Amino acid sequence: MTVHIGAAPDDIAETVLMPGDPYRARWAAERFLTNPRCINEVRGMLGYTGTWNGHDVTIQGSGMGMPSLSIYANELLKDFGAKTLIRIGSCGGMQPQVKLRDIIIAMTASTLSTPSRGIFRELQFAPSASWDLLKAAVTSAETRDVGVHVGGIYSSDIFYDERPDLNNEMQRHGILGVEMEAAELYILAARYGARALAVLTVSDHLLTHEALPSDDRERSFGDMVEIALDAAFS
Ligand code: HPA
Repeated sequence: MTVHIGAAPDDIAETVLMPGDPYRARWAAERFLTNPRCINEVRGMLGYTGTWNGHDVTIQGSGMGMPSLSIYANELLKDFGAKTLIRIGSCGGMQPQVKLRDIIIAMTASTLSTPSRGIFRELQFAPSASWDLLKAAVTSAETRDVGVHVGGIYSSDIFYDERPDLNNEMQRHGILGVEMEAAELYILAARYGARALAVLTVSDHLLTHEALPSDDRERSFGDMVEIALDAAFS
């Protein structure tokens, strides 16, 4: 039991999927895990543990933004001994070839700041995915009837952005999509010798201003969860 995760030590699996939304954690656990049981309700940040193809898996909400994710990822890595953390979340598309419902597998996560900035100070650390997870996720994604993009994403601190120039620079440098958590996840996994990846569904688009209707999300989000599970155990 930690400050933010009210689970017993054995309640958390070595492989943890991390959606931002706690209700998506519940949805994914009920849909994809066998015998899911709720292992955390502290602050409503739901977590579930069950099995997938015989493997133990935890699905724990991270909340929105890097400071929130950092709390849950730190406790999972340091106190519960998690070894593989995979973010499953939504992102905003930033390039014309990236369409709504496509999946982005994030090789790197550029960012202006993270909760780890105090450690790195003037150093510009390059947060990157674990290669074996990335490779396995791409292999799984390519077997599916869904658009897949692999490359850099932007982990922003601000959803309601007052600095469009930052998005513009990211777009100009080929960044595929924007979300708010992956960079700190990659940094923490590196710090604690764990594996990390972000598999993201494009839920809105910064160029076209389209957004996925909520009743249309389930199928695309299902692909994302299955790709993450395939990657973790391949
Ligand atoms: N910006 C930041 N985070 C996001 C977005 C966005 O447009 N869409 C989904 N997560």
